[in-house]
Amino acid sequence: MSASAPHSSPWSVINKVIAIVLAVGAAYFPITFVLGGIKASYNLRHPQPAVQASAIPTASPAIATPASEASPEASSAPAGDGLTAQMAEGQKTYMLVCFACHQPTGLGMPNMFPPLAGSDWVIAPKPDRIIRNVLHGMTGPISINGKPFATAAPLMPPQGAALSDKQIADVLTYVRNSWGNKASAVTPEEVKAIRDVEKARTAMWTEAELLKIADR
Ligand code: HEC
Repeated sequence: MSASAPHSSPWSVINKVIAIVLAVGAAYFPITFVLGGIKASYNLRHPQPAVQASAIPTASPAIATPASEASPEASSAPAGDGLTAQMAEGQKTYMLVCFACHQPTGLGMPNMFPPLAGSDWVIAPKPDRIIRNVLHGMTGPISINGKPFATAAPLMPPQGAALSDKQIADVLTYVRNSWGNKASAVTPEEVKAIRDVEKARTAMWTEAELLKIADR
């Protein structure tokens, strides 16, 4: 219990500690340097696809394309349940291309990106407007469920060049049947038919133009 009965002077203890810290430090840097070099050259030789997939989608063709190649096993999805397979494929495209704006929740972002959950555009009986929306993009003011959606720079980039008919059909089937939405599945044939009808179109759609297209 005696407070201090030093066997050696406190300084010699401190010197030992300093010596150990210096030795460990001296060894630590070359080791991390060597390990870092090995890791860096390994990464160079084995580029990580995961890094690209997690990049924020800018809705550019370069980013959208991997969706079709991302998972070879997807083609062996259980036959017989077409909707389940379409939903799974559609979710992949959604999480590559659409989620950055409309959010994984489908709720969008106030004053920036309109919601897809509960939107009258999305759950319309016929998908003819939203197929056009995804193919060529959309700009200008928009109302969701009759209420003007305020956004400073309303613009949805076109995806027609980046996504196949099947990818658009699957992603729209996904948004029409997620977050409480319930509507018919969209087929690649429907997308192709509209792509053909509108093949001369390059401009983005406006709400006024889309409202002229029957959606029921
Ligand atoms: C860069 C952001 C962005 C991306 C990416 C994007 N959207 Fe949009 N989307 C918008 C904006 C902004 C609007 C409203 C456009 C307007 O006001 O003219 C919109 C409108 C819509 C609408 C109609 C309005 C509504 O809320 O129901 C649908 C449907 C839609 N987007 C689906 C999609 C799908 C599916 C994808 C992926 C294939 C996608 N969007 C990718 C920004 C985006």
